[in-house]
Amino acid sequence: MDKVSQILNLIQPFVDEGKILSRSKDEIEQNINDFVLLFNDDQLIACAGLKDCQEGAVGEIYSLAVAQNVQNKGLSKKLLTKILESAKQRQFAKIFALTKFGTNWFTKNGFTQMQISDLPSKRQQYFNHDRNSSIFFKDVN
Ligand SMILES: CC(C)(COP(=O)(O)OP(=O)(O)OC[C@H]1O[C@@H](n2cnc3c(N)ncnc32)[C@H](O)[C@@H]1OP(=O)(O)O)[C@@H](O)C(=O)NCCC(=O)NCCS
Repeated sequence: MDKVSQILNLIQPFVDEGKILSRSKDEIEQNINDFVLLFNDDQLIACAGLKDCQEGAVGEIYSLAVAQNVQNKGLSKKLLTKILESAKQRQFAKIFALTKFGTNWFTKNGFTQMQISDLPSKRQQYFNHDRNSSIFFKDVN
């Protein structure tokens, strides 16, 4: 199976639960270079997108997920290490994520909760006030 389909399959159960926003195949395809991926043999087991906000050397994490059958094995920490490596390579100073249900994960992993006004100004314009997610930032060292 191609990478794009594997990403869509991996995130789908969490999209159904409302934990991750739905993404189209086109959207993933066009932004495939954003993705940090963990494989077990040929099987995709974890993924996260990291979007260049094109403002203030900031990257936005999205579609962060570990496959249900391999959760609670420490894989999210490995994924975060790869996200930070990618962020560093792309010369981001900070990364952030918007989340409704991942608050514990972000605080346990060294993210700090911030305000809408801390987001890049272009991103503030697209902030979905109805969803009203929490915002978590982390410095890239
Ligand atoms: C949130 C999510 C990414 C966590 O992934 P995960 O791989 O299950 O998480 P981890 O295994 O790294 O950590 C979970 C716990 O397992 C523990 N753990 C169990 N075995 C472990 C091992 N062998 N090594 C390290 N940690 C282990 C960790 O200590 C951690 O405990 P903690 O919650 O007290 O910190 C995953 O649950 C997920 O994909 N959720 C749905 C999508 C989602 O909500 N995404 C957006 C918000 S993050």
